[in-house]
Amino acid sequence: MTQTPVLSPQMQQTSGDAANGQTASLPPHDVIDLGLAAEGVRRIEWAEREMPVLRLIRERFERERPLDGLRIGACLHVTTETANLMRTLKAGGAEVSLCASNPLSTKDDVAAALVAEYGISTFARRGEDRDTYYRHLNSVADTQPQVTMDDGCDLVSLLHQERPQQLEQILAGTEETTTGVIRLKAMAADGALAFPVVAVNEARTKHLFDNRYGTGQSTVDGILRATNVLLAGRKVVIAGYGWVGRGIASRFRGMGSHVAITEVEPIPAIEALMDGFVVMTGLEAAAWGDVFITATGNLNVFRREHFEKMRDGAIMANSGHFDDEIDLKTLREMAGGQVREVRRDVEEFVVEGRRLHVVAEGRLVNLATAEGHPAAVMDMSFANQALSAEHVARNHDTLANQVYVVPEDIDREVARLKLVALGVDIDTMTPEQVAYVASWQSGT
Ligand SMILES: NC(=O)c1ccc[n+]([C@@H]2O[C@H](COP(=O)([O-])OP(=O)(O)OC[C@H]3O[C@@H](n4cnc5c(N)ncnc54)[C@H](O)[C@@H]3O)[C@@H](O)[C@H]2O)c1
Repeated sequence: MTQTPVLSPQMQQTSGDAANGQTASLPPHDVIDLGLAAEGVRRIEWAEREMPVLRLIRERFERERPLDGLRIGACLHVTTETANLMRTLKAGGAEVSLCASNPLSTKDDVAAALVAEYGISTFARRGEDRDTYYRHLNSVADTQPQVTMDDGCDLVSLLHQERPQQLEQILAGTEETTTGVIRLKAMAADGALAFPVVAVNEARTKHLFDNRYGTGQSTVDGILRATNVLLAGRKVVIAGYGWVGRGIASRFRGMGSHVAITEVEPIPAIEALMDGFVVMTGLEAAAWGDVFITATGNLNVFRREHFEKMRDGAIMANSGHFDDEIDLKTLREMAGGQVREVRRDVEEFVVEGRRLHVVAEGRLVNLATAEGHPAAVMDMSFANQALSAEHVARNHDTLANQVYVVPEDIDREVARLKLVALGVDIDTMTPEQVAYVASWQSGT
């Protein structure tokens, strides 16, 4: 394939250098191959077309430089959409460094482009082992960030547990996902959280769309790219009917699958039932299903007792944040040595003659085997990230060491701008209506 020369001439000279080289004109980095940068730039620009809200923010940031001189350390999935967020923060004047929030979600061409074209310090290699993952987190921590930007709380956790001497200089942080927010709230409850954090996940323009429609679509995409199985007529079990589970369930139903839900909370269980899904226990589902997808943020949701009941050919995958929703250690023990890779990203475990499959080592399937959420949905999530970074840069000295929701005016503004970008007008209340909804006197 011919490559369009999208790199600046200076970057073209250096982009073929060895992956680990701290080449003079490039920021510190550790990526697989800088030669992939041109492809990365093309894909980042493609994503940018679907991110009009973030683009508007970037243009304003270029003019106003609200993050001037601020060091931001980010631990996020290294995808095309994240690259556009990094560009936005840099346009605002921030010095940004980035590492991956999952060893399998990195897009190596994007990592290369961030370094070679956009001059952003990036430490991420798809498939990196645990030691490399933590070395990369430490590389970001080494830049002495004043604002942290996390997806899953690993950077904040590292700073608190292993680098407490740095905490004093950190003004604030932001957090992208449900699991990270849960960890941060636990830290705050323990009195351990040393700086304020804005929970971007709690914005309605984040979880209503990203967790639901983004994960819903990209989980279907991940399962299909990994397995190419026919979904119509297949029995699909979704564990967890939160924002992510709802999205996955509705998208699999749309593909013609029969969908069952497992839950531990009564309210989402009733919601699933009234949304028209079958609700059953994990043990009942194990014997019933063909495909199993976890989306709980919990531990060992599918474990020995379920593996004992699953049918030959069962496929398991996870869309929750961490790779511990499927008890892989036990599955490996049950299979003895009978484990092999049957397709790229699909491992087969033979248990008592039954072939059970796990996609992408139980890591979040939508990012590991597909490209994560479509850019149009990340537009709103990352608009919240950029505006929350600006918010904490301006207001950190008025915030306590707690977990904050995204301010309502940011959330509404992101929605308003998205509607404008989509060319959708909505109504405005008449003065009479404004008075009516604010009054308590008028009744029947
Ligand atoms: N893959 C992605 O791109 C992506 C995107 C957003 C969020 N996430 C992650 O997905 C996970 C779920 O996020 P969410 O926003 O839906 O959270 P949520 O809190 O809205 O929903 C989780 C649901 O799982 C249920 N649950 C907990 N333990 C369970 C168990 N043992 N069996 C069955 N159900 C159980 C809970 O009752 C709850 O209803 C989190 O780890 C989050 O960080 C992933």
